[in-house]
Amino acid sequence: MLLKVTSLLLLLNYCNAANILGIFHHPGKSHHMLGEVLLKAMASRGHKVTMVSPFPLKEPFPNYRDIVTPETMQDMNNRIKNEWFQKFSHNSASIDTFFMLLNMTVTQADLLFQNAEFKKMWTSNEKVDLILIDWMFNESHLIFSKIFKCPIILMATAGTAFNVNYIVGNTAPYSYVPFKYFPITDKMNFWERTMNTIVHVSAEVVSYYQRIKQQKILHRYIPDAPSIDELSKNVALVLSNGHYSYETRRPSVPNSIDIGGFHVGEVKQLPKDIKAYLDSAKDGFIYFSLGSNMKSIFLDEKKLNGILSAFSKVNLKVLWKLEKDIPNKPKNIKIAKWLPQNDVLAHPNIKLFITHGGLLSTIESIHHGVPMIGIPMFGDQNSNVPTGVEAGYTLRIKPEEICEEALLANIQEMLRNETYSKKAKLHSDLLRNQPIKPLDKGVFWMEHVIKHKGAKHLANASMNLHWYQNLLIDVFIFLFAILLSVIGLCYLMIRLVLKMFIKNKRISQLKKKKNN
Ligand SMILES: *[C@@H]1O[C@H](CO)[C@@H](O)[C@H](O)[C@H]1NC(C)=O
Ligand SMILES: *[C@@H]1O[C@H](CO)[C@@H](O)[C@H](O)[C@H]1NC(C)=O
Ligand SMILES: *[C@@H]1O[C@H](CO)[C@@H](O)[C@H](O)[C@H]1NC(C)=O
Ligand SMILES: *[C@@H]1O[C@H](CO)[C@@H](O)[C@H](O)[C@H]1NC(C)=O
Repeated sequence: MLLKVTSLLLLLNYCNAANILGIFHHPGKSHHMLGEVLLKAMASRGHKVTMVSPFPLKEPFPNYRDIVTPETMQDMNNRIKNEWFQKFSHNSASIDTFFMLLNMTVTQADLLFQNAEFKKMWTSNEKVDLILIDWMFNESHLIFSKIFKCPIILMATAGTAFNVNYIVGNTAPYSYVPFKYFPITDKMNFWERTMNTIVHVSAEVVSYYQRIKQQKILHRYIPDAPSIDELSKNVALVLSNGHYSYETRRPSVPNSIDIGGFHVGEVKQLPKDIKAYLDSAKDGFIYFSLGSNMKSIFLDEKKLNGILSAFSKVNLKVLWKLEKDIPNKPKNIKIAKWLPQNDVLAHPNIKLFITHGGLLSTIESIHHGVPMIGIPMFGDQNSNVPTGVEAGYTLRIKPEEICEEALLANIQEMLRNETYSKKAKLHSDLLRNQPIKPLDKGVFWMEHVIKHKGAKHLANASMNLHWYQNLLIDVFIFLFAILLSVIGLCYLMIRLVLKMFIKNKRISQLKKKKNN
């Protein structure tokens, strides 16, 4: 017992045991996974954590409590069935997919306020020392910092983007920071820079009007709520799932902290049958998975047949994560409903990974130095894949172009040409070569915020300025006015001098005439 107590005290050298609330209501498995890793790390250091999400733990974990939100899960399933796959498999980068995502965040955020169990928590007097929020365009959730009287840390699950930047005053020059969710990289030509500027400014305007709307909504739920701007000041910092080894490079203020790669855990033993299958792949194997949201089940018959016949023609084994089995499939294909992705990617026989290009899959693949063929469908996948193509460790196939020829050509190119694999290994080294493990960094900053009850000492002064002051528009107008006055004054003086000169000349001319 004594030993237990002293070891606990040693663990808690930064701050005393705290109560931490995680709000990860959006039913994206990857969002939840990131929150779960951070909260479990905190729980194992003796803090008490509460996780609000649609994915309760399968096995209980000490100091970890779940509040389940089945409503958001229901909403997500309806969307995927009714509209999404249709849309995204045909035109993956249109502007209306952005509005579809916005609509989703609005609806699901609202559903969070309606969850009875969570309501019981926020209307009670429970003590909370830190809130960790999955940041999905919803400022109304900042109100929980007022309700629980504690600071907030935002988790930027897709890395830092415009929707996080304004909260901590981060800069993102449109000249070389590409809009997330758009298929461009930081090497932009004139038209791409123009497009990037238009999209960024439009997004800023949309989110500005959203914030005005939020204010009204917030007042409906909580009549005496302060302004969104006021609530934003309770955001201590942003933990961003980003890192320069797989993102485009960008500036970062002191309270925007990159911890990308933190979710990649220790490599574990594979299940027996999978291990035997991969060990026997002497010429190597391909790992194929389209992630957890866009299940491969939605691929239509024609594409499925194209994929099967492409695989039947490569001299490798294929491990395919698919939710249903396929009768009469070629002999070199093994299908599994669920796979421990991190452990599969760590297997020495792997040659390449065919993926939807989700951020977590990309990070895991880079961590293990595995090159990718990306089939991006929506959201940040549209920027992750081109970034990989630019860096040289990814080849891209558009979802609407999936067929035997395209798949076979890309696989053969990747096997034939060593550059992709070399680039993947280089970026793996960049990701792993850090002074402190990303997860330890995340834990450090969470405890830092708990200890100091916020992080005002990190905040950027731009937070206290109006938008026109931030852009220095007032200063430029002032300087321009001075410049105009000086030019005007000079003009008047020159005119005056000229006039006098001309007048004198005329007088002297007149005098000359008179004398003649
Ligand atoms: C947003 O989604 C909801 C629920 O799916 C739908 O009823 C509504 O019409 C959508 N609104 C817009 C503006 O697309
Ligand atoms: C945010 O949440 C509120 C309340 O849940 C919702 O009504 C609002 O429309 C949401 N807005 C956005 C932009 O997500
Ligand atoms: C604070 O943010 C502004 C823009 O919002 C930026 O220009 C400035 O460089 C930032 N300051 C620091 C110290 O990062
Ligand atoms: C391999 O691919 C890279 C990048 O596309 C290219 O520059 C290089 O010439 C290729 N090498 C061979 C041997 O084809």
